[in-house]
Amino acid sequence: MKQREQRTLKIAIDGPAGAGKSTVAKIVAKQLQLFYLDTGAMYRAIAYKTLKSRVPIDDEFRVSEIAKSTEVILDHSDQRIVWCDGENVTLDIRCPEVTRAVSVVAAYPGVRERLVELQRLEAKRGGVVMDGRDIGTYVLPDADFKFFLTATLEERAKRRWIELKKAGKEVTFQEVAQDMEQRDRLDTEREVSPLKPAQDAIILDTTGLTVEELVAKILALAQEGK
Ligand code: DC
Repeated sequence: MKQREQRTLKIAIDGPAGAGKSTVAKIVAKQLQLFYLDTGAMYRAIAYKTLKSRVPIDDEFRVSEIAKSTEVILDHSDQRIVWCDGENVTLDIRCPEVTRAVSVVAAYPGVRERLVELQRLEAKRGGVVMDGRDIGTYVLPDADFKFFLTATLEERAKRRWIELKKAGKEVTFQEVAQDMEQRDRLDTEREVSPLKPAQDAIILDTTGLTVEELVAKILALAQEGK
């Protein structure tokens, strides 16, 4: 590890859905004793609140107002509870309706401005591993390490489909792959902070790698200070 105080270390992990970001980020954070911040969960909480409030997701103004007035808190314990205006929404934000709405909501500048502000405040509290789409490019441009994880659409959809099946959800592989492709497109083509690797990011193709192999690779790269 470079000679830096562990408690101020900042690691950005970006990439498309299903690339393995959150699984790996959680383990890396634990091993390095850093906070873990799942920024996607924050966008999901706003999408959840929008749907719950029956505000149409294409009403940019009202969705942005929701983002400004909603309290989103991510618990740093191992349970990783997500609170949205005092309600535990940890499971609700993973439902298919929220998953389908979230990329639309996340494209609104008003929503991003508010959530990026909260994410940067979290980073000021100490060392952090943050995963998302724009962490290396925009939220933490001065991160000590930036990783961009990729994998083929087929592999990413397969991973997500297996997760959903395990959770007892009735979905076909084709549905998962189509939703993921659509989400990737919206995340990559939006005007504000689109999904793309930072110029100084280390790009890791996770296709065919186990979680253990990927974690070992990231820790080794961080230790080498590359
Ligand atoms: O990581 P995830 O699949 O839970 O993210 C949900 C959505 O939020 C994803 O479609 C893109 C968006 N997102 C974003 O735009 N910027 C981030 N930093 C994190 C997520």
